[in-house]
Amino acid sequence: MDIKDKIEELRTELHRHNYNYYVLNAPEISDKEFDDKMHALQELEEAHPEYMDATSPTMRVGSDINKNFTQVFHKYPMLSLANTYSEAEVADFYERVRKTLNEDFEICCEMKYDGTSISLTYEDGRLVCAVTRGDGEKGDDVTDNVKTIRSVPLVLHGGHYPSSFEIRGEILMPWAVFEELNREKEAREEPLFANPRNAASGTLKLQNSSIVAARKLDAYLYYLLGDNLPCDGHYENLQKVAEWGFKISDLTRKCHTLQEVFDFIKYWDVERKNLPVATDGIVLKVNSLRQQKNLGFTAKSPRWAIAYKFQAERALTRLVKVTYQVGRTGTVTPVANLEPVQLSGTIVRRASLHNADIIEGLDLHIGDMVYVEKGGEIIPKITGVDTDSRSFMSGEKVKFITCCPECGSKLTRYEGEAAHYCPNETMCPPQIKGKIEHFISRKAMNIDGLGPETVDLLYRLGLIGNAADLYDLTVEKIKGLDRMGEKSAENIIAGIAQSKKVPFERVIFALGIRFVGETVAKKIARAFKDIDELRQATFEKLISIDEIGEKIAKSILLYFTNEENCQLIERLKSSRLQLYRIEKHLSEYTDKLAGKSIVISGVFIHHSRDEYKELIEKNGGKNVGSISGKTSFVLAGENMGSTKLEKANKMGVAILSEDDFLKLIS
Ligand code: IVH
Repeated sequence: MDIKDKIEELRTELHRHNYNYYVLNAPEISDKEFDDKMHALQELEEAHPEYMDATSPTMRVGSDINKNFTQVFHKYPMLSLANTYSEAEVADFYERVRKTLNEDFEICCEMKYDGTSISLTYEDGRLVCAVTRGDGEKGDDVTDNVKTIRSVPLVLHGGHYPSSFEIRGEILMPWAVFEELNREKEAREEPLFANPRNAASGTLKLQNSSIVAARKLDAYLYYLLGDNLPCDGHYENLQKVAEWGFKISDLTRKCHTLQEVFDFIKYWDVERKNLPVATDGIVLKVNSLRQQKNLGFTAKSPRWAIAYKFQAERALTRLVKVTYQVGRTGTVTPVANLEPVQLSGTIVRRASLHNADIIEGLDLHIGDMVYVEKGGEIIPKITGVDTDSRSFMSGEKVKFITCCPECGSKLTRYEGEAAHYCPNETMCPPQIKGKIEHFISRKAMNIDGLGPETVDLLYRLGLIGNAADLYDLTVEKIKGLDRMGEKSAENIIAGIAQSKKVPFERVIFALGIRFVGETVAKKIARAFKDIDELRQATFEKLISIDEIGEKIAKSILLYFTNEENCQLIERLKSSRLQLYRIEKHLSEYTDKLAGKSIVISGVFIHHSRDEYKELIEKNGGKNVGSISGKTSFVLAGENMGSTKLEKANKMGVAILSEDDFLKLIS
C-alpha cells in the first residue's frame, strides 16, 4: 500500500472510531489503540505535508497558533425564536398555526439547549466552515476551534447528503466539564465562568485551538438548511442527519395534539435537571417544511416555531446599587441590590456578587440589566450582564470599596485570596457580633437560649462587646430587657455557666481563629496541652501538625499577635473556661487509626454514628463521606446500602463490623 492510501485508511478508521465514541457512546477500540493510530497518522502527515487535509482527524487536537477570527456573512440569516413562558401562550401559537394552515400538522418538540449557536457548512461531505451567530447576519469564523469538538463530524458518512448544505446547532459545555473547569480556575484564582453557556461561548472564541481541544465541548445539531433536503419533515431530516454522522438530540418527539405538547413540556421541566447539559426551554417547530414555508417569518423569527422557556430560574433585572456585608471574620461580601424580580416562585431583591474578581469579570455598571440565577444555594447570584441593553445613560462601573462600610478601616486582601477583609477584628460591629454568635453556636460553646437577636440586643445596650463579657452577665443585668422574662434570663445565665464544661477543642474552635474549623481545632487540642503552649508555638511546630498548613499556621500566629485577643483569652481563663486539655480526655486519644480514611455506613448498636465519628477522630483517623480508592475501610453497621457494598467490593475496600472496629481501637 502506498503512503497516500495508508494515510487515507487511517483517517477513515479514526473518523469512524471518533464517531463511535463521541456520538454513539459505543467505542469499539481502547483509548490506547485510538491514540496509537492517531500518532501513526500524525507522523505520516508530518513526513508528507503534500497530503495535508483540512478535515483530517489530526485537526481535532487544535494548534497553539493564535488566530484572529475573520467575519463571515451567513448565507441565511441566523434568526432567533419568539419566547413564551406559559401554557396559554403555547396554546395561542398552536391555534395560530392551525388557523393559518387550515390542515393537519405535526409539532416537533425539542430541548432548547442553552449553549452558543453555531452554523456549519459542509461541501461534498466535508466540514468547510463553522461560524458563530454574531449579529445574526455575520459571525466569526471559528472553524479551527469547532474542529476540535469530537462530536462534530469533519467528514460525513454514507453518500446520500446534499453536495452543499448548512446545519445549525448548539455548542455546549457539559455540566461536569464546566464544574471541573471552574474548580481548576478557582485553584488558579482566575475569574470563574458564571454558567456553562458563558463557558462554551468563551471557549469557542479562544484564539488558541489547542486549549479549546482540551475543554471538551459537545454539540447537538437541530436545524438543516439547504436546497435539496432529503425529506419534507424536519424530524425526518434530523434522522437522516444522524445517519451522516451528526449528533442530534434523542429526546425530540413529534406531537399531534396540544395536550401531547403540554405533556412533553411538563415532563422535561422536571427531568431536564438530570441531563448532562444545560437546557432552558423547549422548542416547538411545525414539522413539515412545506407548512413552514407557508407560515413564513417575521423580521426577527420564524412563525413556524417558538421557544417555551422554563420558569425563570434565571431572571433579568436592573442593578440599583452594590452594598457590602461584613462577616464574622471580616470578609467583605459585595451584595447586588436589584429591582425586585420574580425568580422560581420568590421575589428577589438582593444577590451575592461574591468578590471583587467576580465584579471585575462581569464588568458591572450601576443600572446594568443583570441575570440573576438561583443555583443550589439559597442566596441567588448574578451570573451575567446584558451588555446589549447598556446605554450611554448607564451608571458608573462598580468599583470595590477600599474601606470597611461598618467601621471605616482600610480593607486588606491576603495574598492569594479573592476576598477583601476588614482587619479591625475587635472594633468592627458585625465582626464583634459575628464572633460572639460563632462562640455560642452549637458546635462551639453551645449556649442554650442565646440567639443572634439576643446577641444584637445585648451588644446594642453595651452589655457585651466580646465573648468574655458573656461570663460577666447576671440574671439581674438582663431580666426585664426587651421581652426578656426572668425565666429566659435565668436560662441564658445557666447556659453560659454550663458552657464552662465544654472541652478544650471546642473552646479553640469557638475562638473563631480564621481557618481554624472543627477538625483543625481537634488536632490543636491534641498537640498542645493548653492555650499558652499554643500561643507560644512557632510556625515550624504548627505546620508539623497534621491538617495544619502554612495558611492556617500563619493565621494562628496572627491571632496571637493581637493584644486584644490575648486579653480576651486571659479573661476567659479567669472565668474558668477549659483552655487546657484534661488528661482524662487525652487518654482517649491514640494513633491507632493514624492515616486511615474511614467510611461509616449502616445502623449501629453500641454507639451512634456521631460517636463513631468521634472515636475515629480521637484515634487519629479521618471520617470520609464516600468510598474511593483511598478509603482504608468501611465501618459497617446493619443494613449497609447495597451500592456502597458493591462499590467497596469492587474497589477491594475492607469492611469492618462494629465489633471488629471496637476491638481494633480498644
Ligand atoms: S432552532 C430560526 N432549535 O435558541 C430558529 N434553536 O432563540 C433557529 N436553541 O439561536 C433555531 N436549542 O441558539 C433551535 N432545538 C433548538 C434549539 C435552539 C437551542 C437556541 C439557538 C437559537 C436560540 C433561539
